[in-house]
Amino acid sequence: MSVRSVDEDASDGATSRKPSGKAGDDLVTDIVRLREQIRHHAHRYYVLDDPSIADVDYDRLIDALTLLEAQHPELISADSPTQRVGAAIAGVTRTAFAPVVHGAPMLSLDKCMTEGELIDFDKRMRRELGTSDSLVYTAEPKIDGVAVNLMYARGELVQAATRGDGAIGEDVTANVRTIGAVPLRLLGEGHPERIEVRGEVYLSAAAFEQYNEQARVRGDKPMVNPRNGAAGSLRQIDARMTAQRPLSMFCYGVGMVVGDFPVQTQGQLVEQLQAWGLRTNPETREVRGVDDALAYAAALLTRRSQLGYDIDGVVFKVNELAQQRQLGELSRTPRYAIAFKFPAEEATTQLLAVDFQVGRTGAITPVARLAPVFVGGATVSNATLHNMDEVTRLGLRVGDTVIVRRAGDVIPQVVRVAEDSPRGAQAVPDLPLVCPACGAPVARAEDEAIARCSGGLHCPAQRKQALRHFASRGALDIEGLGEKLIDQLVDRELLRTPADIYGLTRASLLELERMGEKSADNVLLQIQRSRIPTLAKLLYALGIRDVGESTAKALASYFGSMEALMSADAEALTAVADVGPIVAGHVVAFFADPDNKAVVRTLLDAARGGITPIAPPPRPPDEVLPLAGQTWVLTGTLEQMTREEAGELLQQLGAKIAGSVSKRTTCVVAGPGAGSKLTKAQELGIDILDEAQLRTLLQQHALL
Ligand code: IVH
Repeated sequence: MSVRSVDEDASDGATSRKPSGKAGDDLVTDIVRLREQIRHHAHRYYVLDDPSIADVDYDRLIDALTLLEAQHPELISADSPTQRVGAAIAGVTRTAFAPVVHGAPMLSLDKCMTEGELIDFDKRMRRELGTSDSLVYTAEPKIDGVAVNLMYARGELVQAATRGDGAIGEDVTANVRTIGAVPLRLLGEGHPERIEVRGEVYLSAAAFEQYNEQARVRGDKPMVNPRNGAAGSLRQIDARMTAQRPLSMFCYGVGMVVGDFPVQTQGQLVEQLQAWGLRTNPETREVRGVDDALAYAAALLTRRSQLGYDIDGVVFKVNELAQQRQLGELSRTPRYAIAFKFPAEEATTQLLAVDFQVGRTGAITPVARLAPVFVGGATVSNATLHNMDEVTRLGLRVGDTVIVRRAGDVIPQVVRVAEDSPRGAQAVPDLPLVCPACGAPVARAEDEAIARCSGGLHCPAQRKQALRHFASRGALDIEGLGEKLIDQLVDRELLRTPADIYGLTRASLLELERMGEKSADNVLLQIQRSRIPTLAKLLYALGIRDVGESTAKALASYFGSMEALMSADAEALTAVADVGPIVAGHVVAFFADPDNKAVVRTLLDAARGGITPIAPPPRPPDEVLPLAGQTWVLTGTLEQMTREEAGELLQQLGAKIAGSVSKRTTCVVAGPGAGSKLTKAQELGIDILDEAQLRTLLQQHALL
């Protein structure tokens, strides 16, 4: 969806109305109606993430309004949706970043890092409030962006400012007006005379990646990280530049309020902001007591890398505003709130060397060897450099000071060379021409950034990786068969392919260093135990390129047997949901290789002690599934399973899972701490289930 400015061309045919020359009542009604429609759809798109019309139709509405306004400039108002960029309204001029005195100071937050410190905070709160009961807190992700104050006067956005020193910020109104998630006019009613709305402007991970990809193509400097990107974008002198960087905003508080604002809790405050069309964070919850608070933080931390935007912790605020007032504020920080910080995801360290590693599919990856550094909650001494193009892009030299990022489960990465630090003395070695593990030539397909060893399963490095993968947790899960044992077995040529695993004997294991009888028996027992995997696990274990756990599951339930899958052609494969031509090609190529075929045949040869996969029950076609055609929303905390698990089970019954509640939602599952989604479902009269009812439903369909 594009945000248009008045000076762009208005396309023809967008409206049938001929210029009337005079702003009649009809025309005013048309303009007002169009603006309302546009506001409604912009709110659905930018704030609720739930558009109900196609982008082209939205653009058509904008075009129609733009045309009418161009013919009747006297009817243009500052809060018209056409006025987001470069508002050329007489009398409205902008000085770049003039100082703005905040109505109420923009405070900062006290921080804590450990459970103990959060427990102390909770004790302090209860002591000062003189209560031994558990307190209710709101838990909100701490967005890693730029704090912004929005001033609304009678519902209209009149000014936006950065935090500055907390008392005086900078006027960034023109730039903030380009942010789709910021309403130029509040929805609903009961807007106070004046209200300062506070929140965080940020750049999503996707917007950041996209901007950087394009910047690289243009030869511009990429953004350093999303927060810097957001700060830089807000400070563009030309608002049209800001408009090209899709910023967004989450609102979480208010400053000065003139007039009525009848809310009693932080939770209600956030819901009121949302009802006025401001974007609030969907992860916001009310939690009771410090144990719940810690559980919320732990759960959010595990999902940190999936949120789609950077967070650096959780903010806990005493929920009752009366209690907040009682607790009061220090000069720069409120006493009723605390930031529980997550481990930093970026750290600075030194690049000691660049080596080349051979992966399971032969990919030769440059790996950064680093001076050990604590980042993202773990000590990191290696990081992937992806491929040689990336090394060139980063402009790396051995000895450089580099910034390393480790986010969630993602492999640590070198993100950039630290600015203003002495450069390394040595160039990064060139990509080797032969595989460092087996000496086979290294080849790089024309359309690929990745170079590969051409040794296939003759290459011991590839073999080791393939065997490790085969025995790993999500695959056949052979616990005793770890990395070190595999290395030894491959080096002594006792193991070449996964099929050899089932031919291992006690005698051959006992030949190895540090292998006692007990360990040998244990390994053999674990191997025996792995002989009846599900078909999906076996398929995943084979390590076919791009066939991860979920694709393996889909393939297994579609084909039902290894034989059927092995004889499927690309066309049959692409009939499986989630399998595109590339994955299909990898599957076909895998089974066309005589070596692979032989490995699979030996594996399945029961007579020779091989394995017997369990075929999944045949899956009925989607349309006969009990929840086919239904859309479900999960909100709040579930106690006996995660929301993801619940979602997966509902999907197995044919339901679609959505992130927000709308008229089209069939049912909402709400756990404790559910907020605005639950309220909305109640308003819309949508069916609501609690966890116990959900479990009953799942039990009825034999999923529990
Ligand atoms: S509340 C009265 N809530 O963190 C309390 N701040 O270190 C003032 N931030 O300047 C802030 N997410 O830029 C609050 N959910 C959230 C937040 C949040 C991010 C930022 C904000 C603030 C800084 C304090």
